[in-house]
Parts: sequence; structure tokens; C-alpha cells
Amino acid sequence: MNSHNSLAQVVTIDGPSGSGKGTLSQLLAQNLNFHLLDSGALYRLVALAAISQGVDPQAQDKVAELAANLDVEFDVSGKDMRIRLAGRDVTAAIRTEEVSRVASIVAALPPVRNALLQRQRDFRQAPGLVADGRDMGTMVFPDAEVKIFLTASPEARAERRYKQLQERGEWVDMAQLVEDIRTRDQRDSERSVSPLKPADDAYILDSTDMSIGQVLAAMLARVEEAKR
Ligand code: DC
Repeated sequence: MNSHNSLAQVVTIDGPSGSGKGTLSQLLAQNLNFHLLDSGALYRLVALAAISQGVDPQAQDKVAELAANLDVEFDVSGKDMRIRLAGRDVTAAIRTEEVSRVASIVAALPPVRNALLQRQRDFRQAPGLVADGRDMGTMVFPDAEVKIFLTASPEARAERRYKQLQERGEWVDMAQLVEDIRTRDQRDSERSVSPLKPADDAYILDSTDMSIGQVLAAMLARVEEAKR
């Protein structure tokens, strides 16, 4: 990495799923005209590669090798980003329930996290980067200028997920969703490698009672403040 890249500003946005991280990271990157790193997509790509090549997701050395050799392209030339794996458009394929499940298994393997570290840091390019994930402010960009930890109550997150699924024509039990979210939160924050926790110097933003516009405004204000 050249010195120019290492000087580019980074805004990290970490938090649990359903906190609005994905949407807000995209909006923030557009507003600031920054690059965007969707680190969860990298874990999903590793999962998809393991599934399609018949690699056992628990076989950490084999999965780490897949992670180190991922042939991935993030195409931002169109309106929506397209993700390609070995030339194949997998933008939708990495969002299935099966890939989500396998992604959370491979994300808990230290050699896999290591293999993806430099690839993530390479996204730090001028004029700046918005990095979305779980350990962006703690592990990947500990020197980031702005660190945000975006959260929301399990109920609010379940409600957002419910609406998303409803729009896709899928019906699920609301109480079950809240329960699933609580279980996943516990697993994510208690795992030994890169547990989900705010960096010491992170700004904690609770979006439970905030609109998307309000959260974006709060984030932009934080970025402005950091310039002073
Ligand atoms: O944010 P997401 O749902 O796309 O993330 C997919 C999986 O990868 C999820 O199990 C959390 C994990 N992940 C991680 O461990 N570290 C990151 N920086 C990003 C995602």
C-alpha cells in the first residue's frame, strides 16, 4: 500500500445486523463521495465459494486458502454495485439464508479473518472510505478518524427484518425473529475472535427511534466534527 492510500480518511460503521448499517453506509459513502467496503460481503463470498466447491466450512485451512485466493470484483460503475466471483454475478446469490448461515461459520475462523485483513485494508483509497462491518473500528482500521457503532433494540431490528421479508413475500413469526436476533447477538458478542463490540473510541448511535435521515445527519455531523 502506498503512503497516499494510507492517508485516506476512514469512517468505520460497526454494529449488529438490522441496525441499518448497510443502508446507512451506502448513503454516507454517496454523500461523502467515498469508497465503500461491505466487509460482510467478503465473508459471504468465502461462504459461497466453499459451498460451490464442496469445501467443508469448518475445514479452516482450506477455507482460509479460498479466502486468500478469492477472485472477486466489486463493480461500482452502475447505479447499484454488482459483485462478481470468478466472473459470475453473485450479487443476489450471496444474500440467501444458506450463505448467511455458512458465512457466520467461516467468519468465526481466525485464519479466514487473517486472510481477508489486507484485502479489506486495500479499500482505503483517496478520497476516503466508509467501512461497514463488525470489527472495522477494532481490528481492521484501528486508526480510523471516525468510528461509529450503530445499534438498535432487538425489537426494532426484528421489525425491520420482518418488513424486508414481507416485501419479499416471506412470512415469519415476529416473536421468533426477536428470539433469533437475541441468540445471534449473544453469539456474536461472545465469540473469541473479533467479537462484536464497540471500539473504545467509537461513537455509539442507537437508531431505535430514529429515521434513516436522522441517522445519516448524525453521522455526517460526526464526520464534520472530526475535521476540526
Ligand atoms: O453483515 P453481513 O450479514 O453481510 O455479514 C455476514 C457474516 O459475516 C455475518 O455472520 C457476520 C460476519 N461478519 C464478520 O464477522 N465481520 C465483519 N467485519 C463483517 C461480517
